[in-house]
Order: sequence, then structure tokens, then C-alpha cells
Amino acid sequence: MIYLDNAATSWPKAPLVADAIRQSIEQPVGNVGRSAHRPAMAAARILYDCRQALQRIMPPTDLEKTIVTHNATEALNIALFGSLDTGDTVLTTPMEHNAVARVLHQLVQRGVQVESCACDAFGRVDVDDFSRKLATLPISLAVFTAAGNVTGAINDVTTMVAACTRRKIPFVIDGAQAIGECGLPPMPDDAHGALCFSVHKGLLGPAGVGVMALYGSFAPRPLMFGGTGSRSDSELQPETLPDRYESGTPAIHAIAGSVAAIGVVAEHDEHLQAHRKRMGDILYSGLQTMEQLRLLSPQEGRVGLVSVTVREGTISTLTQHLYAKDIAVRGGYHCAPWAHRFLETTSHGGAVRFSVGPSTTEEEIEITLHAVKEAFDG
Ligand SMILES: Cc1ncc(COP(=O)(O)O)c(C=O)c1O
Repeated sequence: MIYLDNAATSWPKAPLVADAIRQSIEQPVGNVGRSAHRPAMAAARILYDCRQALQRIMPPTDLEKTIVTHNATEALNIALFGSLDTGDTVLTTPMEHNAVARVLHQLVQRGVQVESCACDAFGRVDVDDFSRKLATLPISLAVFTAAGNVTGAINDVTTMVAACTRRKIPFVIDGAQAIGECGLPPMPDDAHGALCFSVHKGLLGPAGVGVMALYGSFAPRPLMFGGTGSRSDSELQPETLPDRYESGTPAIHAIAGSVAAIGVVAEHDEHLQAHRKRMGDILYSGLQTMEQLRLLSPQEGRVGLVSVTVREGTISTLTQHLYAKDIAVRGGYHCAPWAHRFLETTSHGGAVRFSVGPSTTEEEIEITLHAVKEAFDG
């Protein structure tokens, strides 16, 4: 099997992840904050270690503002539902994943207005248009992906955050495809917003852990209410961070695995990025030579994925051929209906996304390119 679906979730996971999960199950690990006995303290330690490790791979923030969720989707739901109200206008991009698009669709039913900024052919945000819209429209919040999950194009997050900060407009960054794949700059001191992502993609961690990192005074309302282990004598949700947002039992075993994964990625960040870029470039060059394909990803400035669609017909012959060869790619619509409309892939059945990981080899890329050719030439 050749696994080229790392943008959906990474495989294999980082070394030591399975060991860390097993250890957290085999050793006495209790429930965070629920008691002061040793197993409960061990759980609290794992969560603390996770918040601390995260500072190494994202724009750092205070540990208590590093909210651990169950995935990027939950983090984005809190950040958006918790801060947008009837009458607000949100600025976004045509390349958003459904973790943003479906939330905004819900918010539109509640009287929120959505404005979209211009992009280039690869879905990369036109930062001049973005800044102009912030300046001329009554924008309450901007939400944008740091790297698109269909084309992999990396946005100029520094300029976009600076534009929001200049206008004192909060931002929500969807970092699901960017974190662990391309560095994000530190946040300006006066920035207000959130960065949301999962640990199971570029960070090579297990499923079940996400992050909403808060910057400045951005403080959305919580989405879930319940037990936090703190202020347990009261039915009022605590206002203190991170408890305000972390109701219910955390996925502590996956969090233990995440600490191991983040450690590995932080340690080998440059090497991992260089490897992904090299594999992605080989893939890109090979796919570029096939006249039946239209490349949706930019040649430069993308994370470790290359997406294509077909010039004629639908992608299904290609995806079926790749699956038959046991090559795992993402075919069809990638939970990003706006992006597929923008890229005009809808009439072709969507796109085929090849996403590499740290374990992808040159030989696997060659076999894949050969299989793609075969799908057309027989
Ligand atoms: C850009 C983007 N945002 C959000 C998500 C949602 O991530 P999760 O399913 O881990 O919540 C994904 C997942 O594919 C994604 O690619």
C-alpha cells in the first residue's frame, strides 16, 4: 500500500506515539482535575505537557489560552459560534473547509452576513483585496485558512493578521493543513484572534486532539458546558481559562500520544518540511507532464500536497485505478464545496489529492506517477 492521504490524516504516526498511548493506558492515569490523587495528577501532567509542547510548533501563547479540544472542527465551532451574532459581518475566503463553511452557513441562518475576498487561480488570498475589504466593509471578524486543503496553497498569514490587527478586527485562522507543514509566524502583541488545528495531520499525532490557541483578548463564548473539575460546587461554568472551554473528560490517551508526536515534529521540523517539499516537487513535476490533467496546486508556496482534476470527463477512472493499485489518495470532493466551485472541478467529479508525509519515498512517488499514466494510457 502506498499512503498518499496525509492531508486527511497522517500515516504512519510519529515514532513513540503508540508507546506513549499504551503507557497512558497501562499506567494509572486518572481524570484531569477531578481529584488530587496520583493518577489524577498524572493526567493533569499529560495535559500540561501537551499545552507546553504546543508552544514549540505554533505561534506561542499563554498556556491557559492553549485550549485543547477534540479536533480542529470543534475548535473552529467554538471560535465562530462563540463570537458572531446577528447583524455581524464576517470576511472569509472561497477556499474554506466545511469546518468553516458549514458553520458560516448556520450563522447566516441566524442573521450573520458573509463576505468573501478575492483569490488567485490557486485559491491564494489576494491580500490587497482582503485588506481593502477590512477597511471598507463593516467586518466584525475574519476567518481564513492558512493553507487550503484542496490546492495546498499557503496564504500570507503574516500580512492578513497584520491587516486585522491594524483595524482591531479579530481573526480566526484555520491552521489544520498548515501546522506541522509550514511555519506560522509569531502573533503581534496587539493581535486578537484564534488559531485552530488538529494534531492528527501535519503533527503526526493520533486522532482525537485539536487546539484553539487564543491570542490577545479574543474570548469567544464557550460552546459546551459541563464538568471541569474546578468550581465544582457551582452550576456556573468557570470563567477561568482553559476550564471555560474544556468541559467533559479530555481524550487523555490521545493527548499523551500527541505530546510524543509534537516532540518529534518540533525536533525535526526543518528536515520534515524539506522532505515533504522534495517529495511534493517530484510529484508535481511528474503530474505536470500529463496533458489529461489540470493541476490545481501552485508550483511554489504549497504544503505537501498536489491536487489535480481531469481536463475531460470525470476523475473516477483515475481514482478507481489508483485504489485498485492500493494507492491511497483522496478522490472526489474534499469537504470544501466552495473551493470545488471556485476551481471549477464540480463537473469533473472533484479532484484527486496526493498528499505526502515524512515517510513517503521517491520510489512510491514513481510508482504512483506510473499508475496515473497507466490510468489514461492503459
Ligand atoms: C483546512 C481544514 N480545516 C479543518 C479541517 C477539519 O479537521 P478535523 O476533521 O480534524 O476537525 C480539515 C480536515 O481535513 C481541513 O483540511
